[in-house]
Amino acid sequence: MSLNRSITIKAPSKVNWYLNILGKRKDGYHNLETIFVRLPLHDRIRLTATKGGIVLETKAPIPKGPENLAYKAAALLQKDASISLGVKIFIKKAIPMEAGLGGGSSDAAAVLVGLNRLWRLGYSLKRLSKLGAQVGSDVPFFVSEARYALGRGRGERIHPIWSSRRLWHVLIKPPFGISTRQAYQDYARLSRQKPGFLTPPRGGAKILLRFLQGRVNKIPQDGFFNSLELALNKRVTEISKLKNLLIQQGASAALLSGSGSTVFGVFGKKGHAIRAVRFLKRRKGCQVFVV
Ligand code: C5P
Repeated sequence: MSLNRSITIKAPSKVNWYLNILGKRKDGYHNLETIFVRLPLHDRIRLTATKGGIVLETKAPIPKGPENLAYKAAALLQKDASISLGVKIFIKKAIPMEAGLGGGSSDAAAVLVGLNRLWRLGYSLKRLSKLGAQVGSDVPFFVSEARYALGRGRGERIHPIWSSRRLWHVLIKPPFGISTRQAYQDYARLSRQKPGFLTPPRGGAKILLRFLQGRVNKIPQDGFFNSLELALNKRVTEISKLKNLLIQQGASAALLSGSGSTVFGVFGKKGHAIRAVRFLKRRKGCQVFVV
């Protein structure tokens, strides 16, 4: 294999249309039922083969050492394959951080898939996905390359959903971020204090699955649900405001994505989504995207 060979790959983002926490597990994680939706807002990852070691470079304010999920993924694959080759990873971030959009996990998945090619390992997606689950719960979804998927377990057991639905998403990331670990910790505490305070829709994930499978036509607002909205604490007012703004601007549904802090709105028509973005961009300190 020639050294200094480079490949560039896109690492997409995601939102969760549905995230129902089923309960706490013995290993400290929570069992979930979730619907992931892959979005084209993406980071760009350049991988260059080197003689040895792992180097991560980026201009973004993220860790460059083994705490970074992309670094972790490279180190894990290097060890699993017992390979002495190394890599220089360059990450150009576009996905906001602590946003619930899966940026860190997606970078890790892109590193696994990319290094499999660069190092010519010949691993199957299933094998890469298994390694990815050791890096983060959302990594297998990104390895799977599915546009829509149902996630079970701690989110790492992926069942792709085939759907021809193409919708527009408007994302608003408020000026603050939310740590995933903190959100789950707060959820665990608050769900003990307020059992049953936030209950999933009666039909559960099936409502959205029926829509994705084309069995109903209208975007079912009632099907969108996220247990982690319980963990918003003082942020609940700001998040509710953003959700209401999206609905006022014509979104068929609006929800917190993953552990937040991004709120997304789903639109059937591009024109409506673009009009909403123009309006929402006036909001101070928020990043707004349409995809
Ligand atoms: O798997 P990941 O590293 O993304 O998870 C970050 C943190 O979020 C975990 O350390 C855990 O505290 C929490 N988490 C959880 N249950 C999940 C996923 C994440 O409790 N299903």
